[in-house]
Amino acid sequence: MSFVSEKSKRIPGSMIREMFAMQTGMENVVSFALGEPDFTAPKHVIDATVASFQRGETHYTPNAGIPALREAVAKSYQDRGLDYKPNEILIGAGAISLLCLACTACLDIGDEVLLPDPGWANYKGLMMQVGAVPVPVKVKEENGFMYDVDDLRAAITPKTKMILINSPSNPTGGVASAENLRQIADLAKEKNLYILADEIYRELLWDDEPYTSIASFPGMKDRTVVVDGFSKKYAMTGFRLAYSAAPEELTVTMTKLLENVLSSVNEGVQWGGVAALTGSQDCVEEMKRQYRRRRELIVHGLNAIDKISCMEPKGAFYAFANISRTGLKSWDFAIRLLQEKHVVVVPGTGFGEGGEGFVRLSYATSEETIREGLKRINEFVESL
Ligand SMILES: Cc1ncc(COP(=O)(O)O)c(C=O)c1O
Repeated sequence: MSFVSEKSKRIPGSMIREMFAMQTGMENVVSFALGEPDFTAPKHVIDATVASFQRGETHYTPNAGIPALREAVAKSYQDRGLDYKPNEILIGAGAISLLCLACTACLDIGDEVLLPDPGWANYKGLMMQVGAVPVPVKVKEENGFMYDVDDLRAAITPKTKMILINSPSNPTGGVASAENLRQIADLAKEKNLYILADEIYRELLWDDEPYTSIASFPGMKDRTVVVDGFSKKYAMTGFRLAYSAAPEELTVTMTKLLENVLSSVNEGVQWGGVAALTGSQDCVEEMKRQYRRRRELIVHGLNAIDKISCMEPKGAFYAFANISRTGLKSWDFAIRLLQEKHVVVVPGTGFGEGGEGFVRLSYATSEETIREGLKRINEFVESL
């Protein structure tokens, strides 16, 4: 018998971390690896957090979060036309904690969940961790890296319980159209499936289309768990603060389960969240202005490199570059680029088999870094 469970052994580690570890000790590295804003959290958010701790609010909080934050989150949904009440909102330590709680609350051992491939790698491990079965469904470049509803339909079995939607997507920057979401919503209702909607990049949209949540379609609020948070929109990754919006029955169950893993989120950080939601949104607009410029720079620069093409990402801060014409596999491309030019990108296969032929570049980094990285990638491809 081994100390480590067989289940844990089967769960894959993160390729992003692997790439990260490989650069250790290297000098003059240009990294496009990290999926986190390079900005510091807004000052008024930090001030609200510090003020709370200084008031002596250093204790446990209610499992579901402080009422002021649940109310502020519910109001932010109401402002967007989604009628969530504070008792349908749960506060967690990062979106990842709520994705985990949602899966634990919704899924039984052996339940199948349809996931985008390529998709954020954590989903697969998470499903396995709760004893569910991840079922990758290819999302293709020609489809903007979003589900084709026929592919979803073909993947459904009597064990399918849930479809995971991540729009805007990590790693592709794809965004589902309202029509695409309506089709998925119809399929979910027809087949009696539930939706886990990871909307963490919802604010980072680069064309003029307004954001559509699948929960907004008739009958969908009752079968959807929306997960969102502060990490990406407000550059608050280190705060570990997020929320879910789901029918009360599920929220109560998730709250019960949260007691066993987090107990509660610390109070100061939650007041930071209240300040983020209720304060000026100028900081978000400023960050978005910079992401837009970086996106233009990186997409234009990648497409100018012979044998590389890159679809315009419609959201998030990732460029998913097609490198298949270089003749290299994603992994080999990334490793050689790191060894020969000290540039870190993540192989597309780190996000599922469907990522073969692609590499992911995060442009949540300075314009200077982007320019230098593009120059080196160009030299690398020319040398092949
Ligand atoms: C698609 C997606 N969902 C969730 C998360 C996790 O967000 P949080 O920092 O709130 O846990 C990430 C972080 O990279 C992500 O890319």
